[in-house]
Amino acid sequence: MYASPLVGESSRSVSNAAHLRGQPRLPGDKSISHRALILAAIAEGDSLVAGAGDGRDVQATAGIVAALGATVERARDDGLNVDYRVSSPGAEGLHEPESVLDCRNSGTSLRLLSGVLAGLPFFSVLDGDASLRSRPVARIIEPLRSMGAALYARRSDTLPPLVVMGRQRLGAIDFTTRVPSAQVKSAILLAGLRAEGRTTVREAVATRDHTERMLRSRGIEVRREPVASSGGGPVAWTLEGGVRLRPVDERVPADPSAAAFWLVAGAIHPDAELTLRDVGVNPTRRAAIDFLVRMGARIQERPAGEGPTGRASDEAGEPLADLTVRSSELRGIDLDPDEVAAAIDEIPILCLAATQARGRTTIRGAGELRNKESDRIAGIASGLSALGARVAVDGDDITIEGPTRLVGSPTRTLDDHRLAMTFAVAGLIASGSTSIDRADSAAVSYPSFFIELERLRA
Ligand code: S3P
Repeated sequence: MYASPLVGESSRSVSNAAHLRGQPRLPGDKSISHRALILAAIAEGDSLVAGAGDGRDVQATAGIVAALGATVERARDDGLNVDYRVSSPGAEGLHEPESVLDCRNSGTSLRLLSGVLAGLPFFSVLDGDASLRSRPVARIIEPLRSMGAALYARRSDTLPPLVVMGRQRLGAIDFTTRVPSAQVKSAILLAGLRAEGRTTVREAVATRDHTERMLRSRGIEVRREPVASSGGGPVAWTLEGGVRLRPVDERVPADPSAAAFWLVAGAIHPDAELTLRDVGVNPTRRAAIDFLVRMGARIQERPAGEGPTGRASDEAGEPLADLTVRSSELRGIDLDPDEVAAAIDEIPILCLAATQARGRTTIRGAGELRNKESDRIAGIASGLSALGARVAVDGDDITIEGPTRLVGSPTRTLDDHRLAMTFAVAGLIASGSTSIDRADSAAVSYPSFFIELERLRA
């Protein structure tokens, strides 16, 4: 029986650090960890997911996969990452869950699993915490319904809980996503595995392509138009339905979205040198690194294969790098809406970097940030303003003038892990002490975040 570890609530204070040095341990990539567990559940046989992030979000997916009939064992656990052994009867052998499937805080669990459940002939309900219940689901209901599954949600089919009445066989669709969303794209591709014929998902801006790479490494032909394997711009993904995945053993790369907190910490602190190992630098995930370099951050990047682990990429072909960041003089940059989509999870910490950059940073078309674990535009503006930063919000656009000396004060995380970690990093450079309510929310994606923070300043 799968049992997830218990976690509590907390608030914390972070005081100014004299220096930052060392190699923070990073959690396994959250996006890839979810996908690896989900794909292990639909592939018949035994899979190993080594180094999965042990945040609460991925734990939620592990619990759901177990509730659907896969055997999920936590074979090794170091308090940050976990090796999962998953044995599954395959998609055909999964069964109706006995109770509501609890996605907790995790939008990725809810959206990706709805794509799987759409193609399984039983009833299920996906639910989560108060934050998840305020996040949009019409964007997945529409395409999955047009494939033949029945889905219903609260408030005229817009908000979770989400009821899924799946079908043994779905119809293929050719669908253009309305907002750049890897979660929506992935849900449709996962449903497409159980559809008759060819499923195509078109997106105006290329979003993270982990699902596509991981399906390929499990024997599924996923075609991309245009063919180039990287870069932004419009892209279409196609796969044929009625196919079976093979189980694989794989190691999850370190999470670039978690690494971004330390890259910014190192760049904005006046006496810092931090090294991050085996970070996933997939072209569809690395935008925050490139934006920081554009801002003048001194980031040195080496292919991880030259380092001690000797791996240049993971089993699905995800490129890995070792990154070293040193104290930097930053300047403001302008990000347009397509660029925001490429760094959607890193915008809060990039906003902190902007407070320390000379000149103005503009981030335009950031409206999707309001649909995350909190309204991140409101949360970041209020938290950074409380610390003395000059932040203005106009509709979906954010403008930050820098540099400003931050002054320690209370901040509110809105129970959002990325806001908690952003304000904690701010506390390392702010004068005095910065308090972070519900700091425990960091454990959603990065259970040892505060342990690493204390080690780096020691
Ligand atoms: C994710 C996609 C993004 C991102 C989220 C993880 C994924 O969400 O914000 O943290 O794993 O596919 P959207 O697809 O909703 O933008």
